[in-house]
Amino acid sequence: MYKLLRPLLFLLDPEVSHTLSLGGLSMLNRVPGAASLLRRLTGNRVPVLPTEVMGLHFSNPIGLAAGLDKDATCPGPLSDLGFGFLELGTVTPQAQNGNERPRLFRLAAHQAIINRMGFNSTGVEAFIQNLEAAGPLPVPVGINLGKNATTPIDKALDDYVMGMKSVYSLADYITINISSPNTQDLRNLQGPENLKHLLAGLKQEQTILAKQHHRNVPLLIKIAPDLSTAEITALANSILEHKIDGVIATNTTITRPGLEAAPLAKESGGLSGQPLKDPSTAVIKALFNTLKGRVPIIGVGGISSAEDAWEKLLAGADLIQIYSAFIYQGPRVIRQIAVGLERKIRQLGCNTLTEAIHQARTNTVVSHL
Ligand SMILES: Cc1cc2nc3c(=O)[nH]c(=O)nc-3n(C[C@H](O)[C@H](O)[C@H](O)COP(=O)(O)O)c2cc1C
Repeated sequence: MYKLLRPLLFLLDPEVSHTLSLGGLSMLNRVPGAASLLRRLTGNRVPVLPTEVMGLHFSNPIGLAAGLDKDATCPGPLSDLGFGFLELGTVTPQAQNGNERPRLFRLAAHQAIINRMGFNSTGVEAFIQNLEAAGPLPVPVGINLGKNATTPIDKALDDYVMGMKSVYSLADYITINISSPNTQDLRNLQGPENLKHLLAGLKQEQTILAKQHHRNVPLLIKIAPDLSTAEITALANSILEHKIDGVIATNTTITRPGLEAAPLAKESGGLSGQPLKDPSTAVIKALFNTLKGRVPIIGVGGISSAEDAWEKLLAGADLIQIYSAFIYQGPRVIRQIAVGLERKIRQLGCNTLTEAIHQARTNTVVSHL
């Protein structure tokens, strides 16, 4: 189905086709029987690969990355497609338009995307209304928080705390986005002094909210791929020190690896898709070197096949997410990845994905000795 739709969607301006696709999906929600048909055609055909991470249960480890459903307009249909979890947002405290258009570019020959959306957001109040209207969802939902463009960077914590308070009761986990390249100075929050202040404040708020709600909602930090190994090690140590529950690696890159000949590569913004695959895997490896499995990692960046997903899992990821491959390949990529991972489990003679990852990581270490 998506194979037929894609050429038409790709004739349109990328942002127009994005809006139309999300609009179409959310309309399906209102057509009687459409949701169960969608589930039968796509979601139900995705093999079940039960995975436990951060005290949450996932029917498969393949999540939708943040930025596709920024305003929580169609979490129901997206979960019917077979994702093991969804990350919604980035949502900012107040509504904001984001950057001027055009701000989204397809580099189809490279299966890549450049975006400089700049946190276009309906604001947290409308986001919550949308999410509540969707009703209970069959998969865990992460909510990704940002700061408003007008909030000075030294007041960023206030925006994140406001976001946490607002979405806490609705989230299975919360992600603090400090790595979008399209909000001025945001990525400076990854530097040691800023990060220390930020993580201490976030942890304090999480502790208060957990007491109020009698429920601990895991707190994750989403990081950029453009950090040096020393910066990643410092960041990982800070995550350990402040008992942050998880880390998402990575967001889009401001570099343009292998894209020297692509005219659109000159557009400013964050690059995602296949060219990001190796840089993001390198970040996961460096993180895992310090975290050593004590803090879960969600691996994201350039995953477009089961092999890519497996590479991220071997590098240290516990779960994975996709965005660009979903745009280029449609929902069938979820099933393809899950089927490929199921095959890996069988090949290794294991019963679960977790067991297979553990065994393969151990074998890799032994074969390098
Ligand atoms: C158009 C677009 C918008 C995005 N918006 C967000 C966002 O709002 N928040 C966020 O944390 N990441 C955002 N991302 C980054 C993705 O979540 C993901 O980290 C990145 O695209 C790498 O994954 P991929 O190579 O599978 O696309 C966006 C990516 C794209 C392509």
